[in-house]
Formats: sequence, C-alpha cells, structure tokens
Amino acid sequence: MYGSRGIIYMEKIKIIIDCDPGVDDALALAYAAANQEIFDILAVTTVGGNQTIEKVTRNALDLTEFYGLDVPVVKGMDGPITREPLYAPESHGASGLGYCVLPESSRTLAGDNAVLYMRELLLGLGEEEKVVLIPTGPLTNIGLLLKLFPEVKSRIKEILFMGGAACGGNVTPAAEFNIYEDPEAAKIVFHAGIPMVMCGLDATMKCTLTRNQVAKLSQSGRKIGKACGDMVGYYLENSTNKYRGVASIHDVVPLMYLIHPEVFTPKRAILDVDCSEGVSRGTTICDFRWWKHDEEEMNGLVLMDADSNLFQEYLITALYELEESLSGE
Ligand code: RIB
Ligand code: CA
Repeated sequence: MYGSRGIIYMEKIKIIIDCDPGVDDALALAYAAANQEIFDILAVTTVGGNQTIEKVTRNALDLTEFYGLDVPVVKGMDGPITREPLYAPESHGASGLGYCVLPESSRTLAGDNAVLYMRELLLGLGEEEKVVLIPTGPLTNIGLLLKLFPEVKSRIKEILFMGGAACGGNVTPAAEFNIYEDPEAAKIVFHAGIPMVMCGLDATMKCTLTRNQVAKLSQSGRKIGKACGDMVGYYLENSTNKYRGVASIHDVVPLMYLIHPEVFTPKRAILDVDCSEGVSRGTTICDFRWWKHDEEEMNGLVLMDADSNLFQEYLITALYELEESLSGE
C-alpha cells in the first residue's frame, strides 16, 4: 500500500525509468532494483544529459545487469528538441560513472528508439492499466512522447520527475540541469494535464550521502556497496558537491517518494518553465496561489523539503538489501 498525492497503490507500481546515468541515476536504478516487490519496472529508457546517449545507454545496460534487473533497456534522444546538448563530465566523469568500471553487459537494446518503444508499451497495456513515468534526466523523450502521441496520456497515472526548483538552481542560479538542458520538452510535459510530482532541488539538495557514508560503502567489501561508493565518491570529490562535503543523490527522490512520502514535504502548484535564452533560461515557475485556481488546475506537487536522515537511512538500507538479494542468488 504505497502512494504519493494520496494515491494508494493496491498492487505493484508499473514504472518506466527514463534516465541519463550518471552517478545519481545509477543509485536510483539500484534503489529501484532493491524494491522490486513494489516496483514493476517495465523499461529503462535513456536520454543524453550527464553524458552522451551512447555512454549513458552503455551504463544503463551495465547497471541493470549488475543490479540483477532483467528489464528492457532502450536508447532515446541524445540531445534537446531544439537546443545544443550540454553534458556534465565534470560531475559524472568521462564514462558517466566516475572511475567505476562495471562488468560489460552482453545484453542488447530492446528497441530502436525510446519514444517509439514507450508509445507501443503504453498503448499495449490493458484498458485499466496505467504507468508511472520516472524521468531523472532531461525531459526530451517524455516531451516528444506526449507531443507526438498524446493518445498515450490516458495510460500515464502520474509523472514524478527529478528536475527544477521552486527557488534556486545548480547550472545557473535560477535553473536546474535537467530542465535547463531542454526547457521546451519541460514546457510540453508541464502543460500536458498529467498529474506531476516535481522532485526539485528544494528537496534533493537535502537528499545526500556524507563523505563518511560514501567511504563506508566503498570499503564495505561488497560489490554493490563498493560500486555505489566509488561512483558517489567521484561525484562528491569532483563536482561542486566537494564544497559541501556531501553528495546530493537527486535521482533517488522520485522513487523514494512513491514508497516513503513521509520523508518529503509536498506543496500543490501549477508548473511552468522559462524557455528564454537569457539568465532565466530553464527556470521552473511554481504557482502556489491555490486561491486563484481551480483544484484540477493544480496538477503539480512540488517537494519543498526532505528529511536528510530518513533519506540516508532508507537509501543505505536499500543498497545493503540489494546486496543481500544478489548474494543469495
Ligand atoms: O540537477 C541534477 C540532475 O541533473 C540529476 O538528474 C543529475 O543526474 C543530472 O541529470
Ligand atoms: Ca539524472
């Protein structure tokens, strides 16, 4: 019995994770793999962002096999709908996973393009079946899916995305990376009329692992712990996280919110995004003025805060549980 927005799931939650692994995406996949009794992962799709589409797709294949996730992986768009791609090698390394080298998966991709694959998957569901989309990279694939094939909207229960901020930014003072990368795609998603949970920096900057916790993972002598500790260690010591002494594991938040909403503080809003070229490019606009709008217009929830200690407890526990489940195989 899990739920966000007061939605209670009486059965496994069908999800599609659209990601750009990327270190924190890698931890999100681990968290999903540790909770397969809750999540029915229908597919992992990739989008260019932290690294090129080729590198993030390679990482998605290797990570899913490494975590024992037998799920389809499909490559998506390399760059934004209209703009030049920006990558983040300074934070995620040349490979996208820091210096962590995983066994190379022999698996092949399950389709030619993530947008077409998601359309077919969603329209192939039973009339009553719906999917929760979990984008943790730029929203390019999701924006194109909704623009090209609006008929899929009835098969989407809600979209919980990592991106944006009610206040602040990381790429600029006003914009978060995933939204800054492809603001046009975000505009399509925000105006699609689908219930959304914005897992933005207001909450994710508090969803961290400390240097000590990272070191303990790396030194755990166990494969999942060491890989995750090594990945996050790179991210902590090479990105701007190094000045904070903690690493924000942004992309775990949408998944954790579905299982443990008590960790977070949501607030109803209408979402919009600045698609200008100026200093406010990619700024997410959160309209909290409930007194000006009808209930159904307020289809966004913004996570305004998070309990860091609870986040750390649930994430680290999940990593060790994943370890146990794989060592028992
Ligand atoms: O701003 C943080 C987000 O950008 C995370 O999803 C990270 O993986 C990068 O994609
Ligand atoms: Ca990401």
